[in-house]
Amino acid sequence: MKHLLSTRDLSRDDAVAILDTALDMAEVRQRDVKKLPTLRGKTVANVFFEDSTRTRLSFEAAALALSADVTTFTAQGSSVSKGESLKDTLQTIEAMGADFIVLRHQHSGAAQAVVDNRWVDAHMINAGDGTHEHPTQALLDAMTMRSRLKGDAARGSDLDDISITIVGDVVHSRVARSNAWLLHTLGASVTFAAPRTLIPRGIDHWGAKVVDTLDEALDERPDVVMCLRIQRERMSSGFFPSETEYSTVWGMTPARLAALPDTSIVMHPGPMNRGLEIAGSVADSAQSTVTDQVTNGVATRMAVLYHLMGADS
Ligand code: CP
Repeated sequence: MKHLLSTRDLSRDDAVAILDTALDMAEVRQRDVKKLPTLRGKTVANVFFEDSTRTRLSFEAAALALSADVTTFTAQGSSVSKGESLKDTLQTIEAMGADFIVLRHQHSGAAQAVVDNRWVDAHMINAGDGTHEHPTQALLDAMTMRSRLKGDAARGSDLDDISITIVGDVVHSRVARSNAWLLHTLGASVTFAAPRTLIPRGIDHWGAKVVDTLDEALDERPDVVMCLRIQRERMSSGFFPSETEYSTVWGMTPARLAALPDTSIVMHPGPMNRGLEIAGSVADSAQSTVTDQVTNGVATRMAVLYHLMGADS
């Protein structure tokens, strides 16, 4: 595997291998010396055309933990403002020695286009492309589900006994799409809950169930409730009557959390709109995995870099 562009490309064996390596990397992160020499002499370029806190910083941490050099590019303040193209920007960054390019871009399919057109030779990692995919987010989410729900039995396992409700702004969510493909590959049972205005066309082909209310999904007592952020920046018109109505009908409230088994977990990829898709007290509860997901993001991205590096040998 030279690139990671989509979770659709991952077989069950590829996914389990990355998740098992992520467990090894998490163990490395607990040591006094938290670094491995795997990428010594290599350069990881983080190329971000859209804002990010978690993904950009955790790729930096992951690359540094594998002893790589790190270059960070953000479109703001760059020659993109002078009209420089994606192709020329990436070829400029590769000419400075990038071996891996971690690309976040506002256009769906951007990372795939770079690979298909052979604009660079570097390993490409899609760190979020428009509303299309965010494969490392889905992998870190799967790592979190395995670790929290299976504990010592996580290694080598898939998710075929796990039920997940994904609730919220599905139509704009690359996290939802990458999770849908990966969770399907890992055998999990997935239900989407959202107002019809936030359900994308074609969801019938995602291998998941779709329900019309969050409460209907929660009646099934899922192992996982994954709340999606309302992406106001991608909304040009009213997708729901009001934020108050949305949080009442679709929000993960304390009452809804109380109705779930104590063993169920609540996930959110961040950044969160507290009080809209998730109540602050739910986000801060013992059943929330929000900070675990961030921690697991570093180990997962170390595992992805490690596996892509393996394609060179
Ligand atoms: N979850 C996620 O992708 O967060 P950032 O936008 O902060 O990277």
